[in-house]
Amino acid sequence: MNIRLAKPEDLPSIQATNLQNLPENYLMKFWMYHILSWPQISFVAEDPKGRIVGYVLAKIDDDATDESKTDLENGKVYGHVNSISVLRSYRRLGLARKLMILSQEAMSTIYKASFVSLHVRKSNKPAIALYRDSLGFRVAKVEHKYYGDGEDALSMRLDLPT
Ligand SMILES: CC(C)(COP(=O)(O)OP(=O)(O)OC[C@H]1O[C@@H](n2cnc3c(N)ncnc32)[C@H](O)[C@@H]1OP(=O)(O)O)[C@@H](O)C(=O)NCCC(=O)NCCS
Repeated sequence: MNIRLAKPEDLPSIQATNLQNLPENYLMKFWMYHILSWPQISFVAEDPKGRIVGYVLAKIDDDATDESKTDLENGKVYGHVNSISVLRSYRRLGLARKLMILSQEAMSTIYKASFVSLHVRKSNKPAIALYRDSLGFRVAKVEHKYYGDGEDALSMRLDLPT
């Protein structure tokens, strides 16, 4: 299994993987915007035949004037993981953990991000275990009815080395 930076030509495969794995799906321009704006923090996992079996898509945020954010967040550069998934038959091989660590390292070293944030469904036990138990994220807050179907999100956060 090979893990490498995501490229624009990977986007159709990334989108197909997303459709198979998650109810939150996005238009191609959303994926393209991320890869072109922050090309060093999104990664893919590919099998020996070069097929994409997992991805992490992330962005950098530095909006110092967003009133919906806390004082702590304002003025800080931080990373945000928008989407991550691994095809079912490739799970529990450590791929998501590796994808996350590579993205986190790039956020920290290239963009000097001070933390990384993400949202996860309250019921998504595998993903919560990945973030909390394996990577050390904590729950920053619960966002009620965050998802389109009314489910709450856990807003999770991990401080990055400065
Ligand atoms: C969540 C997801 C990305 C994890 O991918 P993965 O490649 O299987 O995860 P990893 O193999 O890197 O797991 C690393 C650690 O996370 C935890 N973990 C991952 N899946 C788990 C599960 N099903 N149950 C319990 N713990 C789990 C474990 O601590 C695991 O370490 P271990 O295997 O040594 O016990 C994958 O299940 C997935 O694609 N799910 C559907 C999409 C999704 O929910 N994405 C997250 C949206 S917020």
